[in-house]
Amino acid sequence: METMPAKTLKVSKMAETLIGSEIIKLAGEVKARMARGEEVYNLTIGDFDPKVFPIPEGLLNDIVQAYRNGETNYPPANGMAPLREAVSAFLLRRQGLAYDPESILISGGARPIIYAIYSTLVDAGDRIVYPVPSWNNNHYTHLSQGRGLALQTRPEDGFMPTAALLEPHLKGTSLLALCSPLNPTGTTLKPQALAEICDLVLAENARRGPDEKPLYMIYDQIYWTLTFGQTEHADPVTLRPEMRDYTLFVDGMSKAFAATGVRVGWGFGPPAIIAKMRAILSHVGAWAPKAEQVASAHYLNRNQEVDRDIDAMKAEVEARLVGLYEGFNNMTAAGFPVRVIAPEGAIYLTVSFDLRGKTTASGKVLETMGDVTQFLLEEAKLAIVPFTAFGSPSDSPWYRLSVGTVRHEEVGKILAHVEKALAQLR
Ligand SMILES: Cc1ncc(COP(=O)(O)O)c(C=O)c1O
Repeated sequence: METMPAKTLKVSKMAETLIGSEIIKLAGEVKARMARGEEVYNLTIGDFDPKVFPIPEGLLNDIVQAYRNGETNYPPANGMAPLREAVSAFLLRRQGLAYDPESILISGGARPIIYAIYSTLVDAGDRIVYPVPSWNNNHYTHLSQGRGLALQTRPEDGFMPTAALLEPHLKGTSLLALCSPLNPTGTTLKPQALAEICDLVLAENARRGPDEKPLYMIYDQIYWTLTFGQTEHADPVTLRPEMRDYTLFVDGMSKAFAATGVRVGWGFGPPAIIAKMRAILSHVGAWAPKAEQVASAHYLNRNQEVDRDIDAMKAEVEARLVGLYEGFNNMTAAGFPVRVIAPEGAIYLTVSFDLRGKTTASGKVLETMGDVTQFLLEEAKLAIVPFTAFGSPSDSPWYRLSVGTVRHEEVGKILAHVEKALAQLR
């Protein structure tokens, strides 16, 4: 039977020019290889394998119980009051941040919060400044029809922005988007560096007239409970209390409790802005499911259990990151063209494979970073995301390795595969 050619229907310019997630595309290719039976260590996606990192048992039981109790109708648009109270107490207890429940908005994971912040603060054509590599700021900028200014950070700064990098670009900017611990790098903003950036924001706002829209800061701290070693999470409002008027925090259950599919996120900030965000999200309908909200409230109130679960989660993630970090460091010491940055937080490790110009055992010269990514996939069985997917230039040799799907016993195998693949290069 003859099929009609698909008709191309006109859509909005915004939709027409929106690009999908680069990482999800890459992960799709990796999954296809795995489905064909190929052995691949898939360290691409910033998610957890529930068999390796299940959600806490207590949270699981609470969710099941909430559904059994019939918590299945609409939740309030700003989130269940007991959950906002529990989040408020959690932030005060663990981070020393005092935000009352009216300053907190619950949503279906952290993404709708980010979308709502952009929609609330950005007018079409406004400038949004964000460092790269970073996660998805380009897409939220596009959705809000702002103009993104991506500033390249340096490996010697742990790929973190500095006041010197940002200073020339904040005049007239609407939004500065920061994230720590950072996806994709697993590094953090240090208190001194963050304080200097806050001072720039405060100075810019002191310069603006009372009728002008201020310069706001998104502070995405979705990974903040996962910091390792001596690293402590820093935030703008603790460092500079005057930043409270200008800071919108992004946070939630997804990463702290390996609960990416549970879809409970929250934002907090000035109540008047939070109220606007709530109004926007109420039309989008991006609520977290009511049963999950009720369950998360019960769970978060059990302080000892929560602390124990976070400690356990941290230990598991850190063991994998440190194992890989030490292994790659050994390769550097042995003369392989590998560099690795010490992990400080989140579930990511930053590694550079500068293999361009090398020749494989089969005589192929690795010319581009695309060739290197393919070589690592085919010869080292390692699927990882190049920093180009996070806004770095196409010749960047840096990669993100995500450990949320890695089993303990796989760390050694992954390293052995990589070393064997590197050893064949000439
Ligand atoms: C930095 C950062 N912020 C926010 C999110 C979104 O989290 P959620 O799954 O809760 O929407 C992610 C998820 O990968 C992330 O890496």
